[in-house]
Amino acid sequence: MQTRTKTLTSVLLTLVAGTAIVVRMQAQPPAQGRGGSPVDLPDGPGKEQVQSMCAGCHPLTNITNSRGNSQEGWDALTSGMIALPPAVKPQVLAYLGTHFPRKPGGEPVVVPGAANISIREWVVPTLGSRPHDPLAAADGSIWWTGQWGNVLGRLDPKTGAMKEFPLPTPKSGPHGLTEDKAGNIWYTGNGAGLVGKLDPKTGQVVEYKMPDPAARDPHTPVFDPKGRLWIATDGFPDFGVHDGVWATDTEGAGRAITKHFLGCPTGAELCGPVFTPDGQTLFVSVQHPGEDANFDAPSTRWPDFADNMPPRPSVVAIVKKGGGEIGS
Ligand code: HEC
Repeated sequence: MQTRTKTLTSVLLTLVAGTAIVVRMQAQPPAQGRGGSPVDLPDGPGKEQVQSMCAGCHPLTNITNSRGNSQEGWDALTSGMIALPPAVKPQVLAYLGTHFPRKPGGEPVVVPGAANISIREWVVPTLGSRPHDPLAAADGSIWWTGQWGNVLGRLDPKTGAMKEFPLPTPKSGPHGLTEDKAGNIWYTGNGAGLVGKLDPKTGQVVEYKMPDPAARDPHTPVFDPKGRLWIATDGFPDFGVHDGVWATDTEGAGRAITKHFLGCPTGAELCGPVFTPDGQTLFVSVQHPGEDANFDAPSTRWPDFADNMPPRPSVVAIVKKGGGEIGS
């Protein structure tokens, strides 16, 4: 296991001026990396190794389009993706550092101040697994979804011990995760259109296909105070359907029967559903409304609906008319 500790003596804010960082989910992440158009890498010692070792999970354009790095930077970046064999590692890093050095610009802006921040990183056991959403469980453990590795992982931050739990359906693309009152970990497999439940005591996983076959991209699960599971989706627009939130019981007669609660504006995906502890307010984030349209002919003008306003991402607070718990 590898542990890295970084101490920053002042608050470090990465502000890439004028650049929006857009992270798009891939429905079938591992397969999509391969087979893209060939990338012409510059000649030099190490080229063949990079070609053979760095294209297994994603296209080489990840390298050619990157901002580049020093040799040390390439070492730090790729050590979470692949354990390069010692015999080739120096040559690979030298090749990357020489042909893809750090491009100038976009440096982090250090904001002066007295804050003293310590960041500790744990490299997860399955390299290149794209650890995604984290979850702090009630017992103090930290969980993550290993999207490309098809695992759920658990970290004991006190000891650094980590354990990964393999998931049954290949490439299920575990995305969001949450814990129920009994300590089971529920996750959305957005690559396979399923919701899964892991019992950490036994490692046993039960998978539930989303009832609607077009619902291939359940994203974020969250429990309300009553123990009902709410699931936000992304990816419906690919089928001409809008995204939204579905709710279901996990016990009793209503178990695994999803009910459609909320629809998203055209082109948007729904993120981050979260309840207030009293269950009376549900917050949702509407991401990229109007995607795939353009400024002159927007497909929606959410949320202003004014002729002079473009669509805007927004956070929405939902309350029940007359008060009370959402869904009651
Ligand atoms: C086992 C899978 C795997 C292998 C092998 C792999 N990578 Fe990656 N790499 C990833 C994943 C996962 C990401 C994150 C992709 C994402 O989030 O879209 C990534 C992202 C990147 C990025 C973009 C990161 C950023 O911060 O912009 C670069 C550059 C990169 N890889 C370089 C390399 C190089 C160089 C090698 C070979 C030495 C390599 N990768 C081998 C899995 C892998």
